Amino acid sequence: MHTWNSDLERLAASVIGYASERAKLPKDPRWGARDAEELAEALDGAVTKDGVGGHEALELFRDVLLPACRPMDDPMMLSYVPTAPSIAAVLFDMVVSASSIFGGHWESGAGAIAAENQALRWIMDLAGFPQTGGGCFVSGGTAANLAALVTARQQWISEHPNHDGRHRLAIVATTGAHASVDVIARVMDVDFIRVQSDAEGRMTSAELERALQDTGNLCPFAVVTSAGTTNSGAIDDLAQIAPICQREGLWFHVDAAYGGSVMASPTHRPVLDGIEHADSFGIDPHKWLFAPYDCAAILYRNPTAAAHAHSQQADYLDYIDEGDFNPSDYALHLTRRARGLPLWFSIAANGTDAYAHAIDTTMDVAHGFAAYVRDSPNFELLVEPKMSIVLFRRVGWTQDDYEAWSRTNAESGTALIVPSKWHDEICFRVCIVNPLTELGSLVTLLDDMAAS
Ligand SMILES: Cc1ncc(COP(=O)(O)O)c(C=O)c1O
Repeated sequence: MHTWNSDLERLAASVIGYASERAKLPKDPRWGARDAEELAEALDGAVTKDGVGGHEALELFRDVLLPACRPMDDPMMLSYVPTAPSIAAVLFDMVVSASSIFGGHWESGAGAIAAENQALRWIMDLAGFPQTGGGCFVSGGTAANLAALVTARQQWISEHPNHDGRHRLAIVATTGAHASVDVIARVMDVDFIRVQSDAEGRMTSAELERALQDTGNLCPFAVVTSAGTTNSGAIDDLAQIAPICQREGLWFHVDAAYGGSVMASPTHRPVLDGIEHADSFGIDPHKWLFAPYDCAAILYRNPTAAAHAHSQQADYLDYIDEGDFNPSDYALHLTRRARGLPLWFSIAANGTDAYAHAIDTTMDVAHGFAAYVRDSPNFELLVEPKMSIVLFRRVGWTQDDYEAWSRTNAESGTALIVPSKWHDEICFRVCIVNPLTELGSLVTLLDDMAAS
């Protein structure tokens, strides 16, 4: 199993050849989930005492299993938050797997961690974070939010040694904050203080002040803002919220999992003004910064606070030098894939201008699409897009109409657009992160909706 031989040589050629072909985008947009029974039947006999052999297992994956997974990187995959990893990043992901790097500690993964930190420094420079800032790559935006909030609570407790526990700690956020924040509150056993969003789904400083005036018997310790909510791409008023957090001694976290990528474009960076004041922000390069799954990052103004909350101690870890930069100190993990390396490789290979260009392209397409919607009597643009998400209604359609159109187009492989809601009413939501998505194709979809 571990010794190289001519069979493995042939298998390597097949696996790498297949992976390269897949990276070139030959896929079918109709791919998607199949019944569990159907898949169980296909998998029957794959795990045996002697093994079926790599070629047969690869065929099974290629012909049955992968087609039962949605192609999230298809240019017409326009729902949820899709992905669009660069080819360089995808190819390098294979190298990361082949390299068996333990990315938790400097002692074992210094070269990889140094490169990851270079990519993180680029992101922090885009945000305007100080040179003392730092953080690490984590599995997703959920993990990034959790790491930030655990750090925030730890810092609050250390600053309030006389807190008697009668007042439960609480996270301050709008209902537009990502669903992960609700789950994190449950995991951390803390409460919520809800801030009313404005008509466009944003947290304003006025509503934050109002929420903080009457916190009842709750004790706020962190404000979670969104730099691009998942449903509408709304951006909270970061610049006005920052001084309130500072005045009140509250941790200021920005969830930029989806929207943080706009910082790569000098044209669009100003929409996130205020993020430079954050105590922490999360960003998911696997959403809109052209990295493969799973690549997210949590960045702290003062990483030492995160180390106080997350650092793991054990006798067998005593030889790890605490003076080194150990990514395991900055989130809830110890063993860690160097999952930032494909992003680093792609930035190094393509240059940061390519990133700016790719973001500008997706923004142009999203805004061109919104303009077409706005100008048509058949549609209603529900909110002016600040990012690359467009929410709109087809005038006169019922829920059944939305669902039927969505199903028909998904089944034909034309596009995946599933309905969402805006102010409790059904609508369509389009999220564009793929530079290969063309405005002309989107306009054809709108024309089809108008004619249906
Ligand atoms: C704003 C925001 N925060 C957090 C998340 C959770 O990210 P992940 O799915 O990578 O855990 C998402 C996912 O869509 C998101 O859009």
